[in-house]
Order: sequence, then structure tokens, then C-alpha cells
Amino acid sequence: MLIFDSGIGGLSILKYIKDKIKNVHYIYMLDNEAFPYGNKTELFIIERSIKIINIVKKNYPINVVVIACNTASTTALYYLRKQFKLPIIGIFPEIQKAEKVTKNNIIGLVATSTTIYSSYIQKQLNQKCIHTNIKTIATNHLALIAEKKIRGFNIPRIDLEYIFKDWMNLSIKPDTIILGCTHFLSLKKEIQRIFNQSIFFIDSKEQILSEGKDWLYQLQLNQKNQKNIFLYSKKNKTVQQLFCYLKEYNFQQIKNINVR
Ligand code: DGL
Repeated sequence: MLIFDSGIGGLSILKYIKDKIKNVHYIYMLDNEAFPYGNKTELFIIERSIKIINIVKKNYPINVVVIACNTASTTALYYLRKQFKLPIIGIFPEIQKAEKVTKNNIIGLVATSTTIYSSYIQKQLNQKCIHTNIKTIATNHLALIAEKKIRGFNIPRIDLEYIFKDWMNLSIKPDTIILGCTHFLSLKKEIQRIFNQSIFFIDSKEQILSEGKDWLYQLQLNQKNQKNIFLYSKKNKTVQQLFCYLKEYNFQQIKNINVR
């Protein structure tokens, strides 16, 4: 299985998959050279995702691809499925699930700019049920905050308050928040803390298994790659700061790969 993201966001998706499906071997591709995807054009992300899959496929046997990134899924999944014969699973902000859960009919969707303004999300928002009010926040800074948190840096509350200020100023705040970027999954506690009410978070990770369960179970029986490998596209200090955090993922190899 190849699983990729621009950064650490996809690691929580990987953790979820490996907790549910035993004996899966994985290649995690951290495309830190192109981080953040959230400020890139749709075309850039489509081309970049094609390059990543091609390069990894050339070097390792892969049976399934998981795009552990909402930004790449909303912009590129459709094209990737046309381009490759491999099964490809993506992750999308689950607006319909939030509509079922909300009690006050105010839903917050927080995601990267590229995701929020993608035609996929814009179409969903225009089709939304008239009884629900969906407030959106497009932020590229929050993924950076998540990257810092994982490396042990302090997250000033004021930075989060600034990002969420539009919702915090509402007289009725969202009771349900869709985390439309895999990076944000690691910030649930911090986001909850700045709101004075309990929030129901929708992180969409279950979607990976409901959509890709058969492919992932089949993969258990049919794996040619017997190692867990961590690849990253740019060698620098920030990626090295991550290595100790990776222990729980049992990577047998950590390697730089050129995405050109
Ligand atoms: N983790 C990614 C997502 O789910 C993208 C973060 C970024 O690179 O901007 O959208």
C-alpha cells in the first residue's frame, strides 16, 4: 500500500488503517518538498500526485494507493483513477455525515484553501440541504500549526483563535466541525479548547475503510512488499525532527526520494 500526504496529516490515517487491518505493509510518502498543498493550484496537485505514484510504483511493488489528504483527493482523485489501473482511495470532507449529526444546524467546515475552493466542494456546498447552515474557513496556516505541534512546539491559543475568529464571533456557533484536512486531526483538543461548548468533530477517516475495505483486506493476502518504508521528498532539518516521532509506525527504512 502506498499512502501519501504533503506532511504528517496522513500519519493519523495510516495509524487508523493499521489498527483496523493487521499485517498491512505500507510505504508512506511525505511530500514535504511541496508542502503545503493548500496553496497550490489544482493542476499542480494533479501533476504532483501522478508523479508521486509513478515514481513509487517504479521502485516498489504497490497494490493500492491511499491519498491521505483531502486537498489531493478533492482535486486529483478523479484524474488519478483515470490515469492508473491501481485501486485508489481518497478522503473527502463528509458534509452529509455532519448534516445528520448537527443539533443546532450550524456546521463548520475547516479545510485548506485549495479544498474549500475546489469545484468538488463548491458543488457540494451549493447542493446542501436548505435546513443546514455551513460556515467555511479556508486556512493554510492550520496545517503548519499541526506540523509544529507534532515536533513538540507550543501552540499559542491566540493563533487558533485568530484562525477561528469568524465562528467564535457568531451568536450561535457550529456544534459540529468537519476537519477537512488530515493535518487537523491532531488538533482536535486545541480546537475544542477555544470554543466554550462541546463540539462534535467529523474527521472522515472511517470513509477510507468503508470505501476501500475490500481492496485493503485483499492486500493482506497479496502483498509483494514486505517492509514498511518511509519516503520523503526533501532532505532538511524539519523532516529529521520527525524521525523520532515515527517509531510507533515500525518503519524499517527511511529514505529520501526525488520527485522530479
Ligand atoms: N493534509 C492535507 C489535507 O488533508 C494538506 C495539508 C497541506 O499540505 O496544505 O488537505
